[in-house]
Amino acid sequence: MDRDWGFRLPVSCLCLTKASLLSNYDIRIVAVADVLELRGALLAHPAGSPSITGDDHPSSCHVAARRNEIPVGIGSIYSEPTPDGNPTATWKLHGVAVDHGHRGMGVGALVVERCLEHAAAHGANVVWCTAPAGAFGFFERCGFRRTGDPVDHRGGPQYKLFAEIGPLRRSWSI
Ligand SMILES: CC(C)(COP(=O)(O)OP(=O)(O)OC[C@H]1O[C@@H](n2cnc3c(N)ncnc32)[C@H](O)[C@@H]1OP(=O)(O)O)[C@@H](O)C(=O)NCCC(=O)NCCS
Repeated sequence: MDRDWGFRLPVSCLCLTKASLLSNYDIRIVAVADVLELRGALLAHPAGSPSITGDDHPSSCHVAARRNEIPVGIGSIYSEPTPDGNPTATWKLHGVAVDHGHRGMGVGALVVERCLEHAAAHGANVVWCTAPAGAFGFFERCGFRRTGDPVDHRGGPQYKLFAEIGPLRRSWSI
C-alpha cells in the first residue's frame, strides 16, 4: 500500500530501476555529526567550516542516505523565515549533497523528500532553499519553484527556490 506522505515529489524516483537501486540505501534521520564530513567534502564553505548557524537550531533535522552504514547522501532542514522575512511556518532546506558515485539514482530526491516530510510533520507550510546555477534544476524536479532574482555570492549566483508542502493530511513521523 502506498504511504500517504501528505505531499508527493514530481520526480520519477518510483520507476522500477530506480526503486530497485534505492532499496540499497537506508534513509534516516541522523545526528549533525553524521552529515558534516560529506558536507565538508562536497559543498563550499565560505566561513571555513561545514557547520552553519542553523545546525544549532532546536528544530534542526539532518537526514542521511546510508549505504553499508556510510552516509552517501545528506540534507538538513530547520525552521527559518524566508529571506523576505515571511515567518509563517517556513523552513529552510540546506546542505543537500550526494557523493559522486551515488548520483543519478534518486538518492538526492529521496533525501529531500524525507526532509520535507519532517518539516511537514512539524507544521511547515513552505520550505525554501538556495541553489547555484548547476543545481537549481534538481530542486525544480523536487517540486521547488524559483523566485526573485539570483543573489550574488562569491561562488556565483545563488537562486532562491520555495516549495509549498502543507498542510499534512495525516500525522507521520520518522
Ligand atoms: C544536486 C545533487 C544533490 C543531486 O543528487 P542526485 O542523487 O544525483 O539527484 P537524483 O538522482 O535524486 O535526481 C532527481 C531528479 O533531479 C534531476 N537532477 C539531478 N541533478 C540535477 C541537476 N544538477 N540539474 C538538473 N536536474 C538534476 C535528475 O535528473 C532527476 O530527474 P528525473 O526524475 O527526471 O530523472 C547532487 O548532484 C550533488 O550533490 N551536487 C553537488 C552539491 C549541490 O550542488 N547541492 C545542491 C546545493 S546545496
